[in-house]
Amino acid sequence: MTSVLGIETSCDETSAAIVGGGVDVRSNVVASQVDLHCKYGGVVPEIASRAHIERLDSVIEEALERAGCRQADVDAIAVTNRPGLVGALLIGVTAAKTLSWVWQKPLVAVNHIDAHAYSPAIGLSESPWPAVALVVSGGHTSLFRVVGATRIERLGATTDDAAGEAFDKVAAILGLGYPGGPEIEKLAREGNADAISFPRTMLARNSLHFSFSGVKTAVLYNVNGQGKTSGGLEKMSPQQLADTAASFQQAVIDVLVRKTMLAIKQTGLTSVVLGGGVACNKTLRAALEDECRNRGLAFHAANPAYCTDNAAMIAALGHHLLQEGRTADLTLDAYPSS
Ligand code: KG4
Ligand code: ZN
Repeated sequence: MTSVLGIETSCDETSAAIVGGGVDVRSNVVASQVDLHCKYGGVVPEIASRAHIERLDSVIEEALERAGCRQADVDAIAVTNRPGLVGALLIGVTAAKTLSWVWQKPLVAVNHIDAHAYSPAIGLSESPWPAVALVVSGGHTSLFRVVGATRIERLGATTDDAAGEAFDKVAAILGLGYPGGPEIEKLAREGNADAISFPRTMLARNSLHFSFSGVKTAVLYNVNGQGKTSGGLEKMSPQQLADTAASFQQAVIDVLVRKTMLAIKQTGLTSVVLGGGVACNKTLRAALEDECRNRGLAFHAANPAYCTDNAAMIAALGHHLLQEGRTADLTLDAYPSS
């Protein structure tokens, strides 16, 4: 059975995984750096690179150990080489190239966003493809037409903030912790999603692109007063805070659901998949699932373990690329853009 070692270091998670043939995830070790970045309210690239250097060796060792795998059992090494923080990506790419050379195993380059689009297929007994994939993460919000595991075509993307970035920035406006998505989701449970009517930016009529900077600014002014950027938070009651979180979350979800359905209409596909860190959000998962059920569409959200950054999705997509002979060589480089 073919086993692929996956390595992921594109942002603030150091991760390694072993995935066997038939996309059998045998281990998936994720060392989060949230504790290092939270006091800065966001990811500090230099700190992320340093932490990847310090942790990657032991994370890889643990992934091998948990899978009961030795070096000889690894058939290929798959690594994220784009997009992401270039200094962070370089740590994973350098480690993967070194192992590929020393162990004499093929190297496979994986696009991080494609892996998020593929991630809902992990653990499914039947293929969800062809499908419209909605990828909602901290760095990206995109819609794809996925014809097969390695045939992923982008239909639309964000023109400014990503959905997760908007969650993180609104959480900061509301004085909540980092990362903001889970904090907003928790607070929103106590609030009324209809309390405040935040804008749902749809852009041009048939556009599959997104824009979330408007809703973020609307929350800022709703909290502080029109044109003001501070001073309002202290005057808000706990209920007003919860209503703001719930109304913001609903505005983002409405746009995500509507755009996904527009992509379904434009492509004529009948299957929807959801991946990326924001896909952990239970209200989003339920809203998309309801809409799909009402329209008779198949729906698969990624397992929460494979929503936020992880190497299992890198190794799994790496498997398919390897099968097609799409290997890289030791000139492989890291790139910030997709
Ligand atoms: O996919 P991911 O781990 O990293 C990137 O590739 O960007 O996504 C991280 C993002 C963060 O912005 C975080 O706030 C958001 O996912 N997130 C959530 C939830 N859990 C994580 N957003 C909304 N609700 C959640 N429950
Ligand atoms: Zn990601």
